[in-house]
Order: sequence, then structure tokens, then C-alpha cells
Amino acid sequence: MDAVLSVDQGTTNTKALLVDAAGVVVARGSAPVGVTFPRPGWVEQDAAEIWRSVRSAVRDCLDAAGGLAPVAVAVSNQRESVVAWERATGKPIGPVLSWQDARAADRCDRLARTGLGDVVRRHTGLPLDPMFSAPKMAWLLESAGLSGPRATERSGVVVGTVDAWLVWNLTGGAVFACEAGNASRTLLFDLAALDWREDLLDAFGVPRTVLPEIRASDAGFGVTADLGFLPAGRPVAAVLADSHAALYQQGCRLPGTGKATYGTGSSVMAPVARPDDPRAGIATTLAWLTDAPTYAREGNIIASGAALAWMAQSLGLSGAADLEQVAKAADDTGGVHFVPAFSGLGAPYWDRSATGLLTGLTGGTDRAHLALAALEGVAHQVADVVEAIETGTEAAVEVLHADGAATGSGRLMQIQADLLGRPLRVADAPDASALGVATLARQALGLTGDGVPEATGGALVEPLMAAGVRASRRAGWAAAVARSRGAVVPPGPAT
Ligand code: G3P
Repeated sequence: MDAVLSVDQGTTNTKALLVDAAGVVVARGSAPVGVTFPRPGWVEQDAAEIWRSVRSAVRDCLDAAGGLAPVAVAVSNQRESVVAWERATGKPIGPVLSWQDARAADRCDRLARTGLGDVVRRHTGLPLDPMFSAPKMAWLLESAGLSGPRATERSGVVVGTVDAWLVWNLTGGAVFACEAGNASRTLLFDLAALDWREDLLDAFGVPRTVLPEIRASDAGFGVTADLGFLPAGRPVAAVLADSHAALYQQGCRLPGTGKATYGTGSSVMAPVARPDDPRAGIATTLAWLTDAPTYAREGNIIASGAALAWMAQSLGLSGAADLEQVAKAADDTGGVHFVPAFSGLGAPYWDRSATGLLTGLTGGTDRAHLALAALEGVAHQVADVVEAIETGTEAAVEVLHADGAATGSGRLMQIQADLLGRPLRVADAPDASALGVATLARQALGLTGDGVPEATGGALVEPLMAAGVRASRRAGWAAAVARSRGAVVPPGPAT
């Protein structure tokens, strides 16, 4: 049986799945990964721990497979996070700066004042925001005492996205390459030329020589080294960024399709024909590069699962899954809105100064209202992004595909369909990213005779809310967001 080992390296967890030729998961393993918050705005991980988590998850998966060995390996990974290491030894230099890390905000502000924001947006499709890799790469190089291209080159230190780190380790240091979709999340990648862009490399102070070579998603990333926990000589056949892999798996490959992944944050993505004029607050990104590039519009929501977890904890519940039960007692939120702008708002606002708030509290507000407001807060944010993605496109998203942990909440999925005013297709497999890249790997190796597999199934959730109610809830939310963005305006000096 031609099984593919698919590794999905996420922010808090690494999964390894053995996927058979029919796309069925025949064995799985997983390992947690730590995240630390050493200072406000700083979010770090440990590169060695990330690699250990891959080893552990793969070992568990292959043990569970009872002797079935993979013919190939596929990798999907958390995006934007940055790793620096010594090329000669593989020793990490400094921490992994997580995608959530905002320490480069000042650097981005300085660069924005030089007008770089427009250049970045025009060529990379991204906002000049510290979530993306380049300013973090510069921070890591500088904190290792490496300033200037010559010093950096002489040091033998390299920087890369998490896929580059995993490929480098899987191949025993033989391949130093990253996948094009991952490269498109760095602020250094030219969407039209499909290559690093010199003026941006200069502007951020990241020399080309320390960056990985960029490869197409299905180009092949070498073969596995003799690592002890995985058969040697197996091709690393495909790599995709995690959110992009989920898009692929959901069958969203043409304009008019789209998906939302509900994780700690949420990623809403929809393919577009070309990287045309970016929409305010929405990024254009390279979804994947195979024979030709597939571009997508994307909006990232910073807190969705995190918002549910916060509310659950605040209500004394054991986890976000319990919110649905508590919310059962309420038909509506009683006028409450919860804007989970814990570290500002992401798409489509990109306002790091927005502050989290609850509005509309009255003496009659109870925990059911609050639980429901948390679920609605997630759904409103996704609806905001879908609407922004569609602005100016001919191809509206007819059915939004949904995947990720929070799709387990039937109430949330109904609220989402209601507030969006269109149907939702809820993925029946929780492993969209791992399955998506496994599918691409099988195609790359010619293991699928029948072309590109279609979207996975899943329940269809139809909107039930009356249009007038929907409009009024959406307006209430918009007012709450406006307050969240205005509430931090500092008072003027006393006169
Ligand atoms: O853009 C960040 C994203 O790729 C992280 O995904 O699944 O680790 O939350 P996840």
C-alpha cells in the first residue's frame, strides 16, 4: 500500500498521519510544542523542541502503523514564524520568533515612515505588519550580532521559515529550501516574479545568501536522511503552508470558492485569478505553486479559538467546547457583543491599537449571553473577512468551507451561516492541512491515477436567520468594533 507520511507542524502541536492511497488516515501520532511569552508582545518557541516534536509524533505514528512504512513524506507547517541556525552544525541561534510575535512592530513603523508599506503591499500582497517574517529575521540576525551582509554571510548563520527548518532536518542538512507559498508570507517574496525581491531584502537587511532556495510546492525537497525514526531515502515530495494545505484539501482551487480555518486565530482564504489590486486589510498570497501559481486572498483573524478559550476560562468552564452547552440557555446575546481584540484586531482592520471589550452589558446579562456573544464574536470576525475578500471581485464565495477545531461546535457553525447569510460546508475530517499536503504529495509522485481529488464531503449548514435580524446583528457588531478601535485613543494633555 502506497502510504504517505504527512507531518503537520502547528504552533502548539505537531501531528503525523500515515495516509493511504484512498486518503484514509491509517495511523497517527502527535506531540505538543511549547510556546513562551517572555515579555508583552513577544512570543517564542524552541527550534530544537519543534524538531523533537516531529520525531516524537512520527515515531508514535509509525509505531501505530504496525510495520507499514511510508513511500514518501509530506509537510505542512505553521507560517511566518522564523528560525535561525548555524548551517554547519544545525544549532539554532536564538529562539523561534512565532508568527504571533509583535516585537518587530517598531521596526515596521520605522520602515512604514520611509514609504515601504506601499512597496511591500504592491509586490508581496501583504501589509507591513510584524506578524510576517522579514522584520523578525532582521531582529534575529541583529541579536546574534550580525549586521551587514558580509558579516552575516561569514557567520554561516541561515534563517528560514519553519518548513525550511523541517526540510533541512529531514534531509540531514542536504537541502536548504523553502516552499513558495511559505516564502510568500515573509514580506520578501515577489508575487509576480516568484522569487526573493532585492529591494525588499535590502530594506529589511536580510541578505539573499542566508535565505533558503525557493521551490515549487510539489517540486521535491530531497530525500529523508538516516534519522533512525523514519526510513531513509524517502522523497519529501510536497510542502504546503498549513492554511494553504487546508484550502487545497477543501477543494477550494478556483475563484468563487473559499474556506475558513478555525484555530487559535482564523484564516479565511479564497483563490483569485491573479494577484491584482489588494483590498484594504486583506492580503494577497501565493496559495501554492505547481505547474502554475495559484493566488488567494486571505484575511487573518488574530483571536478566534483564543477568544473562546478566554471566555470559557472566565466563565469557569473547563474548555471552549463547554461554551455551546452554556449558550443553549440563550436565544440571543441580549445585546451583548464581545470583541476579542486581545492584541489588536487583524483582518480586515489591522489595528494593533484596538482593545478587547464587551459591550451592551445590562443587569440582565447572564453567562449564557456571554457564551453566545463569544461564539458570535468569532463568526462576526469571519463574516467581516469574507465580505472584505469579496469586495471588488466578480466571484463571491457561494459556500464557505469550514475546518479546524471549533467546527466541532454545531451552534457556532449555525451562527456562522446565519451571520454570513450563506451556507457552510463543514469538513468531516479534522486534519485538513495534513490531508491536503498528503494529497499533493501523492499527485507529485504520480500515485493518483484520477487527477486532482475533489473536495472532501461534510455537512452543509444552511443559514436560517431572517435578513433583517442578520442586518441588525451585523450593525451592532460593527458599532462594537468601532468602539474597540476608538477606546484606546489617548486622552489629550490636560489644559
Ligand atoms: O499564519 C499562522 C498559521 O499558519 C498558524 O497556524 O495551525 O499553528 O495555528 P496554526
